[in-house]
Amino acid sequence: MKIGVYPGSFDPFTVGHLDVLTSACRLFDEVYVAVLKHPSKHAVFTDSERQEMIRRVVDTEGLANAKVACFDGLLVDYAKQVGASHIIRGLRAITDFEYEFQIDAVNRHLAPDLHTVYFMASPKHSFLSSSNVREIGTYCGNIVGLVPQCNIEIIGERLARQ
Ligand code: PNS
Repeated sequence: MKIGVYPGSFDPFTVGHLDVLTSACRLFDEVYVAVLKHPSKHAVFTDSERQEMIRRVVDTEGLANAKVACFDGLLVDYAKQVGASHIIRGLRAITDFEYEFQIDAVNRHLAPDLHTVYFMASPKHSFLSSSNVREIGTYCGNIVGLVPQCNIEIIGERLARQ
């Protein structure tokens, strides 16, 4: 059984994240979407809200082999705990490369047998990030098409209240 872990802050989960998850679910038998409990940047949505929103997406999209969970501590420890052979990450633009390169170097040092695979974002999502969504939503801008439809209301309402 090939198991992958797709980690992130997911504050909130965007359609770009969904693209990556959909591709990963085609390649792996099981994919754990691992929501980082305490991101260094202060999260707008709580751990449970972020998980709940991703679960709703997983159900709506029928991604039967995706599991949603929260993790704290080192990613490599969590990956070991769930029996994952690979970490899954998305790449949007060249600017992501250095950040991902650093994360990969640390993870390789900690767990040389755990490999990371990258899915290139669709060009139409290359500008999209959770922080863009937060900024647009805070100023009551249109977030339709940026986050999965099933979460538009909760995300829009919360960000507008900030
Ligand atoms: O969506 P993000 O914020 O870019 O995801 C970053 C994440 C969760 C992959 C990274 O911060 C992480 O793995 N954190 C857990 C702590 C850890 O394992 N650190 C060593 C690798 S940087």
